[in-house]
Amino acid sequence: MPVPKADKIWIDGELVDWDDARIHVLTPTLHYGYGVFEGIRCYGTDRGPAVFQLLPHAQRLLRSARLYPPLDEAPYSAQGLADAIVELIRVNGHEAGCYIRPTIILGYGEMGLNPLPSEPQVIIATWEWGTYLGEEALVSGVKVMFSSYRRIGKNTIPPAGKANGQYLNSSLAKVEAIRAGYDEAIMLSEDGYVAEGTGENIFIVRDGVISTPPLSDGPLGGITRSSVIQIARDLGLEVVEEHLVRSDLYLCDEAFLTGTAAELTPIATVEGRKVGSGTRGPVTEKVQSTFMDAIRGKVDRYKDWLTYVND
Ligand SMILES: Cc1ncc(COP(=O)(O)O)c(C=O)c1O
Repeated sequence: MPVPKADKIWIDGELVDWDDARIHVLTPTLHYGYGVFEGIRCYGTDRGPAVFQLLPHAQRLLRSARLYPPLDEAPYSAQGLADAIVELIRVNGHEAGCYIRPTIILGYGEMGLNPLPSEPQVIIATWEWGTYLGEEALVSGVKVMFSSYRRIGKNTIPPAGKANGQYLNSSLAKVEAIRAGYDEAIMLSEDGYVAEGTGENIFIVRDGVISTPPLSDGPLGGITRSSVIQIARDLGLEVVEEHLVRSDLYLCDEAFLTGTAAELTPIATVEGRKVGSGTRGPVTEKVQSTFMDAIRGKVDRYKDWLTYVND
């Protein structure tokens, strides 16, 4: 589905009409993928639209930029970016919520593999967006396979960042999975440990204990991942970070994916083998239900995770 238009796009501090928000065909990021971005969600709540974990996302964007000089020279603080995002949501009038896509790219001017002479350019777009893997998937789960592509290695492209070009790796795995009849791909690290989905972190449940791969196995440090770990621990559940291998996914009782896009989506099958009963398990449901309440501002304990746009 094409991106539904909003009114304005924020470019370097200016609010530009959606249809006029253009970059030149020789913008170097288009050619080399040298840029960083974030994906953030804003939800409709009883107090109007609220952005989930806004500051941590803005901080991660700037951390990603530090991996890719001169993108770190963009003259904005995390709070400055957060304020710009709130302003844009207000201007675009997304009362029922939206998806937010900030990106820092190399501006038009220079061209070549040396990015250092380029000027960074900051762009923020917002648009209305529904569920990523489908409404139904939040209940009945998704079908996944192990990708034949490995997650980018620590000395290939830093997996700790969210760089535009690294998503070739995720997209190759996603296309492979979709063409093979699955919803999502699970990627292994160079060492053969489970890393994550193409745009989601992964968790399994075994004998009531929740496990997720450590960041040293290459998954992105997901903000949903940290939120879900905190929710699970607050619910009295044990959560451990440990290496996982393929067979852990075949044999576990429950498994789920987390991410800004996927929220908390159960895994129903792995390469056709049912995970547990083949549908959302009880631990997954418990954590998911608190997470879904938290993002809508219904859990007092997590109220600091939301930035209310109209306040
Ligand atoms: C590769 C990858 N893993 C995991 C995630 C989940 O991270 P978050 O929960 O911060 O959206 C994302 C999404 O940004 C991602 O692109």
